[in-house]
Amino acid sequence: MLSYQHAYHAGNLADVHKHALMAALLDYMTRKDKPLSYMETHAGRGLYALDGAEAAKTGEAAAGIARAEAGRWFAPDHPYSRALAAVRKAHGPAAYPGSPLLAATLLRPVDSLQLCELHPQEFAALKAAMAAHGGIFHQKDGLQMALAMCPPTPRRGVLLIDPSWEVKSDYETVPKLVGQLARKWNVGVIALWYPILAPHVAVAPAQRAMVRALMADHPEALLSEVQFPPAREGHGMVGSGMVLLNPPWGLDEEAAQIGRRFAKL
Ligand SMILES: C[S@@+](CC[C@H](N)C(=O)[O-])C[C@H]1O[C@@H](n2cnc3c(N)ncnc32)[C@H](O)[C@@H]1O
Repeated sequence: MLSYQHAYHAGNLADVHKHALMAALLDYMTRKDKPLSYMETHAGRGLYALDGAEAAKTGEAAAGIARAEAGRWFAPDHPYSRALAAVRKAHGPAAYPGSPLLAATLLRPVDSLQLCELHPQEFAALKAAMAAHGGIFHQKDGLQMALAMCPPTPRRGVLLIDPSWEVKSDYETVPKLVGQLARKWNVGVIALWYPILAPHVAVAPAQRAMVRALMADHPEALLSEVQFPPAREGHGMVGSGMVLLNPPWGLDEEAAQIGRRFAKL
C-alpha cells in the first residue's frame, strides 16, 4: 500500500540537500557536449505548492527551502537557484520543483528523460507537471523498472533512486539493486537518497548497515550526509544522505560545501 505523499514534505531540509546536490550534478554533466539519459525510479508529482494545505500542515518547507533562501545558502547562479527561479517564473512564486521538474529545467533538448511513479494520483499529476518538457513516463514499480531502463541509450546518464522507505525490506533490496545496476551499467551515475534516522527508530540500524554495506561494495562512491533537527519533536528523520556511484569530477567539493551550510544549523 502506498501511503507516503511527498506534498507534505516538499521543500524540507532533506529536499534541499538532495535537490541542491542533484542540480549541481546535472550542471556538471550537461557541460560536456554529449547527450545524457536521466531517469528516476520514484518521481513523485514533480511540482508542489508551498502555499498549499499540505505544506502548511507540516511547516517543513518553511524550515527547509524558505530558511535556506533567507540565509542565502545558494548563490543566484547556483544550478539549484536557477532551477527554482525558472519553476517560479513558469508556475508562480509558491511553486517548488520535485526532482523530475528540477532535472527537466537543467537538461538540454538532446537529453532524454524517463520517470517512474507508482501512485495513480501522483502519476497523473506528474504527467501534467511535466507536460511542457515531455519524457517517457511509467506507472510501474520503479525498483523493477530500474533494471529494465539500465543501461539506457545514450549510455551516459544518471539514475535517481529516491524511495519513500515505507517497507523495511527496502534496506536490503535497494543496495542489492544498486549492485546489480552497477554491474549492468558500469558508467552510470547512480544516486541513492535515504533518510538518516534517530536512534529510537526501529529501522535505524538497518539504515546504517545499508550505508556501510554500500560503501564497502562501492568504495569509490561519493557519500554525502547532512544532519538537521527533526521537523517535529520525536520525528524520526534527523538527516539526509546520498550515495552516488560514478560522480562527476568536482561534485565532492560541491557536496562538502552543501555540508558546511547544514553544519551551521
Ligand atoms: C520520496 S517521494 C519522491 C520524491 C521525488 N523524487 C522528489 O525529490 O521530488 C517517493 C515517491 O515514490 C512513489 N512510490 C512508492 N513506491 C513506489 C514504487 N515501488 N515505484 C515507483 N514509485 C513508488 C510514491 O508514491 C512517492 O511519490
